[in-house]
Amino acid sequence: MGEADRRPDQAAPRAVPMRLQRFLARSGVASRRGSENLMTAGRVQVNGLTVTELGSKVDPLADVVTVDGRPVVWDARPFHLMLNKPVGVLSTMKDPKGRPTVADLVPVGEHPGLFCVGRLDRDTTGLLLFTTDGDLAQALLHPSREKAKRYIALVEGTVRAEALRALEEGIVLDDGPTAPARARIVAAGDPEAAAVLEGSGRPGGSIVELEIHEGRKHQVKRMLAAVGHPVARLHRVSFGPLELGDLPLGTWRELTGGERALLEEISPRGYH
Ligand code: URA
Repeated sequence: MGEADRRPDQAAPRAVPMRLQRFLARSGVASRRGSENLMTAGRVQVNGLTVTELGSKVDPLADVVTVDGRPVVWDARPFHLMLNKPVGVLSTMKDPKGRPTVADLVPVGEHPGLFCVGRLDRDTTGLLLFTTDGDLAQALLHPSREKAKRYIALVEGTVRAEALRALEEGIVLDDGPTAPARARIVAAGDPEAAAVLEGSGRPGGSIVELEIHEGRKHQVKRMLAAVGHPVARLHRVSFGPLELGDLPLGTWRELTGGERALLEEISPRGYH
């Protein structure tokens, strides 16, 4: 709604104030450091006044910010990224014991409200989705609509067809039976598995791909242990419509336009 459309008795919408350099970075003007440089160079105005103080705050919805006289358009759309989570990092945005968390690896400063959708165990690697859209997260994790998640597991022992069949039909775990899954033995020398599992070197092990539609605690490890194949290493390669691809371990990337469109179909909000 523009100023002209607003009735006199309607207050202008307001947002939580944020640091000006964060606002600039979030709006795609420059990196956080680049935005700070723009400010200290006197090139940034807020409501017509030049602001050089790095701690200054703005309300993204109410304040008019310009750089070199050009207005900065606030991007209020939700932000999503995928991380290839490394081993040894907790899937939480804050740990009271101060251990490393995924928040150390993603740009939460530029994107306040960013959080991870679901969890991976500390020793599990792979695709973890982050979003600022709580409705989307709920839709992705809702038990009635849980999205497929595909894992590659290095397991002990030689996996045979009966074990795959049991995984596919559903396993009775101590918290109830699992829904049918998809399971296959990954061909020896499969490039994806080789890249992920290289160097783990357990003789007699197997590499299995398992796709599940639920999100119970340690589910994949418990399912594979239940058929006699404890997991040595676990890596998630897909989550709903998203594929990890060759994103290096420990790095993140913003979702592409195509991926955003796929999430738009899932989020009750829709994006424009
Ligand atoms: N299942 C597990 O056992 N661990 C994970 O991290 C994810 C799924």
